Amino acid sequence: MKIIIAKDYEELSEKAFEIMRGVLENPNAVLGLATGSTPLGLYRKMVADHLENGTSYKGVRAVNLDEYAGLAPTNDQSYRYFMRSNLFDKIDIDLNNTYIENGLAEDEAAECARYNAILAALPRDIQLLGIGANGHIAFNEPGTPFNSETHVVALTENTIEMNARFFKTKDEVPRRAFTMGIKNITDARKVLILACGANKAKAVYGLVKGEVTEDLPASILQKHDDCILIADSDAAALIGE
Ligand code: GLP
Repeated sequence: MKIIIAKDYEELSEKAFEIMRGVLENPNAVLGLATGSTPLGLYRKMVADHLENGTSYKGVRAVNLDEYAGLAPTNDQSYRYFMRSNLFDKIDIDLNNTYIENGLAEDEAAECARYNAILAALPRDIQLLGIGANGHIAFNEPGTPFNSETHVVALTENTIEMNARFFKTKDEVPRRAFTMGIKNITDARKVLILACGANKAKAVYGLVKGEVTEDLPASILQKHDDCILIADSDAAALIGE
């Protein structure tokens, strides 16, 4: 794993953008994208670059990690809405080329199979990831098998609490979500994982130096051929780099 320590969030976002720009040299790149607060700085830089330098996304396809079960794409807490308001509606990507699980799907098994087929048809050049404080990636909580594909998960209390800040009350946080599985994530050619803040330091330690174990889902990335971690100094505090 290549490790880049950034002095602050701005530098983390800039370094992430440099990597993304390299991938976008292919005008038909397939991007695996993520939600959460950590990638927002990168998305702002992608938007600025599109506006200032004309980088085009017309041929780009984007596949997202996860979506809350029960939320419509128009719900302002859905990840589809997040992607539109923070990135897709600000660049020239064709929305028909953007994929995310359908949170309203009634037949969940069929929806997971549909999404796995999309992932198989669109090999990703890069998969962007954040990391949960408990080491989760996408919504793959501790204990998720490394060979998992798209599935529906019950969110842990820890994740519900962490994500409650985006909702009016904790009760509004959906309890379940669709997520790419860990195998889907590691199938991407390149993985870029971003970690910011002291509350991620333990998870980053496990990601970089811990045992490769399903108890810390991100630890599987130690075995990926082309994984880059960009952490700010707070998140990197325990890895001694
Ligand atoms: C959520 C998402 C993850 C994300 C994590 C961390 O649980 N499903 O994909 O990595 O939150 O979010 P943040 O970047 O806001 O810390």
